[in-house]
Amino acid sequence: MSNKLKVVVSRDLGPDVMPLLLDNKELDVVVWPHNSVCDRKWLLENAAGASGILVMLSEKAKLFDAAGPSLRVVSTMSVGYEHADLKELAKRNIRFGYTPDVLTDAVADLSIMLALMAGRNTKETTEIWPNFVWSPFAFCGPQLSTTSTSPKRTAGFIGFGRIAQATLARLVPFGFQHCLYAANPSTPADPAADAALAAKYGVRELRRVLLAELASESDVVFVLAPGGPATYHIVDEKFLRAMKRSAVLVNTARGTLVDSDALAKALHEGWLYGAGIDVVEGEPKIGADHPLVKAPRCVVLPHIGSATTDTRIGMATLAANNLLGGLFGKDMPAELNT
Ligand code: DGY
Repeated sequence: MSNKLKVVVSRDLGPDVMPLLLDNKELDVVVWPHNSVCDRKWLLENAAGASGILVMLSEKAKLFDAAGPSLRVVSTMSVGYEHADLKELAKRNIRFGYTPDVLTDAVADLSIMLALMAGRNTKETTEIWPNFVWSPFAFCGPQLSTTSTSPKRTAGFIGFGRIAQATLARLVPFGFQHCLYAANPSTPADPAADAALAAKYGVRELRRVLLAELASESDVVFVLAPGGPATYHIVDEKFLRAMKRSAVLVNTARGTLVDSDALAKALHEGWLYGAGIDVVEGEPKIGADHPLVKAPRCVVLPHIGSATTDTRIGMATLAANNLLGGLFGKDMPAELNT
């Protein structure tokens, strides 16, 4: 019998990263051999006897029973970990790695891109040819940057972690000086920390507020909180009805935070100007007839927040190094305390 440690990897991580695992003589590496979402049955069968498992966001990381007592570490190539059963991991002493930080800039970049795309109605303007007839106010919507006639812009963030703050930093050169955010109600407010962040990002106002105020005061609302039951449909009909008619909504977090039907209705009825959506509840099975795909002034992307070559290589490298650290009882570069 081989003394090698078995590891199962649910997607090929590419030529820059796979050698970290494949060239390690102490490992027996089993990789899902197709360029498609890893089949659950294959994963469960191959998990038997594994010491480490590396999964994507698309795979439920509940593989303990299939793997058996040999399992030491689960590593996910994602910053989100709602697919992992943290309580069970802790109970079984299984270490868990994820990929924070490396994707912050890519997702913040995309958040700004979607704010611009939603405000400039690229959904319709990129599909207009050959039927466009110019007129002075055709397709005019809100401007992201401040103007002499409209000098105040307020950004609202649902969730104010790393990606939200990186997004705020990108908004300051557009003239944003006001930042409101809503945070998990179980964490206490900390005005001194808010003042320090206002100074750090160079904005006049940075305040934690309730959702109602965030909805009614923001010119752009960025949804950047974790998924899960606590944030399910946090952007609902009530929230959308309270938004400014000129505002845009950007969701680069999780589809479950936004009630898609309510948002589609809001866009049809003009409760807000537009929406830029990178994540949709029920993804990736989103058809061309999905209410948001059909909604006016709504740009829908296929969850590509972190999809730049550098970032995905960074995430895959971190996930592989987390796996190696956990397998050999060493530090994991990004271990979640479960
Ligand atoms: C993550 O890593 O959780 C992101 O959603 C991927 O883009």
